[in-house]
Amino acid sequence: MAKTSLLTTQGLRFPPAETKEYVNPDLRVISLEELSWHETPQDCWVVIYDRVYDITDFLDEHPGGSDILLEYAGRDASVAFRGSGHSKYAIRALSKFFIGSLPMHERIFRKPGGYKLSDIPE
Ligand code: HEM
Repeated sequence: MAKTSLLTTQGLRFPPAETKEYVNPDLRVISLEELSWHETPQDCWVVIYDRVYDITDFLDEHPGGSDILLEYAGRDASVAFRGSGHSKYAIRALSKFFIGSLPMHERIFRKPGGYKLSDIPE
């Protein structure tokens, strides 16, 4: 029987074997198109430095308020995040909300020869 879904019961997306860019089966790859559907206060994803974060549960906790985050719901917030001068603590906090990464061809920071910043969080 043909597989129709890439979603497993764990919610991880396992790629078709023929797609070279999916090298790590534990890494969920989320496109900008998929990201764009998650743009409401009830379901809010953002991209920061090519990584996708589900910050729905963080909206009301954000010291800078939820409105500013919602401006970037379903979008790339890298420049806004960087421009607000977040602390190391804030950068570390990102990992709690990490759900996946952009496909290689949609990345602008984390790819060979991509734009380099000295303090992109690991
Ligand atoms: C999505 C992940 C984000 C996390 C985990 C996060 C976390 C934090 C934290 C912990 C602070 C307290 C100060 C600090 O430790 O740096 C803060 C402050 C702030 N954040 Fe964010 N932030 C995020 C995204 C954003 C975005 C996209 C913006 C857009 C401009 C933003 C704007 C601000 C502003 C303006 C403050 C300062 C609030 C004040 O001091 O009155 N943040 N954030």
